[in-house]
Amino acid sequence: MGYKSLKSASTNGFQPLALRRRFLSAACFVVFAPAWAQESLYQRRPASADGIGKFYMGREISHVMGWQGASWLEREEREREERTDLLLPILALQPGMVVADVGAGSGYFARRIAAAVGTGGIVYAVDVQPEMVRMLEAQAQRPGLGHLKPVLGSTIDVKLAPASLDLALMVDVYHELEFPYEVLASIVRALKPGGRVAFVEYRAEDPNVPIKALHKMSEAQVRREAARHALEWERTANGLPWQHVILFRKK
Ligand SMILES: C[S@@+](CC[C@H](N)C(=O)[O-])C[C@H]1O[C@@H](n2cnc3c(N)ncnc32)[C@H](O)[C@@H]1O
Repeated sequence: MGYKSLKSASTNGFQPLALRRRFLSAACFVVFAPAWAQESLYQRRPASADGIGKFYMGREISHVMGWQGASWLEREEREREERTDLLLPILALQPGMVVADVGAGSGYFARRIAAAVGTGGIVYAVDVQPEMVRMLEAQAQRPGLGHLKPVLGSTIDVKLAPASLDLALMVDVYHELEFPYEVLASIVRALKPGGRVAFVEYRAEDPNVPIKALHKMSEAQVRREAARHALEWERTANGLPWQHVILFRKK
């Protein structure tokens, strides 16, 4: 609200000195407000072993999994442990869909989504680590994977065109976003009206899931954070051994 009223003041024509001063301080506010506003979303406290010491809505953000962990993402037993074969049917992929795999890593899911949407569809495989993007580029060269498009995102923006996506998927990613509010806002912008976003996170509610606490998220926490955006909860699928799939639709 404050931002709007200051902006409209700047559209006045001739202004007396006092008004000009107000205009100048308004201009400073416009320049500096984003950084200031951004900081107020987050808190800094001493970091735990797996976290970065930055907190969002009561949880500590975890370290990003480095590109050196790509072989863990591609491990042979992953399908058996996580039943990754059951995840794709939950997403209801259709030929021709445009999907973003945000935090695509080594491309484990991007390749499988590319097969499901077919060459009439597109899979944007977004990551912030240039090493991961190079791995994705190598995969996009493989026969039949020309519609897998690697994208180097930034820590605050997935860098995808507005209203271009049917679905955005984040598997084991959201809890480690350094700027979760900003990245989710950029995803929502990139969704078509009615487009969906799927959070796949290790279940914090289940002590038997053998993953470090900061790399898990509860359904309630994901829903609280998503509620800050133009998203409505669609459903939560609990049929996977370790993860829940929490699906939202753009309002
Ligand atoms: C644990 S890996 C998961 C990879 C993949 N989703 C999978 O399940 O095989 C998390 C990935 O998210 C990426 N990541 C972290 N922050 C990101 C951001 N702001 N935008 C895009 N990717 C990000 C990391 O670089 C890493 O490759």
